[in-house]
Amino acid sequence: MTSSEDRINYLDHAATTPMRSEVLEKMLPYFTEKFGNPSSLYSIAGEARYGVDEARELVAQVLGSRTSEVVFTGGGSESNNLTIKGLAARRTPASGHIVTTAIEHHAVIHPVEQLEKLGYDATYVGVDASGQVDPDEFAAAVRADTFLASVMLVNNEVGTIQDVAEISRKSKAASKKLGGNILVHTDAVQGAGKVSLKVDELGVDLMSLSGHKIYGPKGTGILYVRRGVELEPLIAGGGQERQRRSGTENVASIVGIGEALALAESERLGSRDRFDSLSNKLIEGVAERIPASSFNGSRSSRVPEIANFSFPGVEGEPVLLGLDFKGIAASSGSACSSASLEPSHVLLAMGVSPELAVGSVRISLGRETTEADIEEVLGALKSVLDQLATFPSA
Ligand SMILES: Cc1ncc(COP(=O)(O)O)c(C=O)c1O
Repeated sequence: MTSSEDRINYLDHAATTPMRSEVLEKMLPYFTEKFGNPSSLYSIAGEARYGVDEARELVAQVLGSRTSEVVFTGGGSESNNLTIKGLAARRTPASGHIVTTAIEHHAVIHPVEQLEKLGYDATYVGVDASGQVDPDEFAAAVRADTFLASVMLVNNEVGTIQDVAEISRKSKAASKKLGGNILVHTDAVQGAGKVSLKVDELGVDLMSLSGHKIYGPKGTGILYVRRGVELEPLIAGGGQERQRRSGTENVASIVGIGEALALAESERLGSRDRFDSLSNKLIEGVAERIPASSFNGSRSSRVPEIANFSFPGVEGEPVLLGLDFKGIAASSGSACSSASLEPSHVLLAMGVSPELAVGSVRISLGRETTEADIEEVLGALKSVLDQLATFPSA
């Protein structure tokens, strides 16, 4: 990015990303001349239908799936809710058990909690200090009545990658032994563009994705649903998306998320070295300049785009405000909880003390982040923390 006086050093890409110009360009005609309803019969409707079909094709290529297994939704949260509630609603009478983890995004944890209130059961498997789930421990939580295992691919707060393939293999074997037949879902919202999303390699039956984390449109998501898996729709109506998500398709956004995902995947491998080098510079720089700090997460199984640090004796919020004053945007946890001072459930599950958890800062890198941006945030963090140490009540 070109440097200018008032350029924001945006380091919160795990919260959201700016739309890529290629994506916007592809979307624009669908707001105006290609405005038809894909379900109609005349030719401008055909253009819209073609746009949706083409996007579905792009997504299926990235996932290694059939196009009929790709459902467009209104975002990552909706995809998670459709999985959890859509599968639960197929069970009559309402009963059964879900295994998930203590570090899932609230878009998984809260729908599971809603089901618990209705009489379903759930187990939240813990993680080690690096945020890693033990596949054996996860599989040991599977019961005869477990119908769903849900585990995120990449954690949004600390960037730890889970061994979803191993968790799936062991959980399915455990279920089979007990006479069950569980389905495995992964919330891969933070994995897109960072790790492989091939559904067969991961061994998953359902996968959630979101447009706005990959330089695509907000309010748009994808749910991969393996052939044969039956879901009760959350939104019933005209029967779009093969009865799985009714409502006239958000054509422009569907075109946008298809393009964004294809671009993210095509650049994924080529961007690893650059992100590794930026991330190492950041982590080493923080350790060197702020020796009292601690790094939260895994050094071996992580995406380099997300790094989380705790600073003793401060709260995250004043640090963020201090950084903002210097033109740097970061986060003190997941975007939805950054307005509250509740310690992050992810950090607590990793065994971080509540005092250190409230003093945590997440820095997440993006396509335009440069070495100079990392240098800038290192200097700014040091000066903000020094200031807060001098004026603890600031
Ligand atoms: C891991 C994870 N899952 C789900 C979501 C929700 O996605 P969306 O904002 O598209 O509803 C997010 C967004 O913060 C996320 O990071």
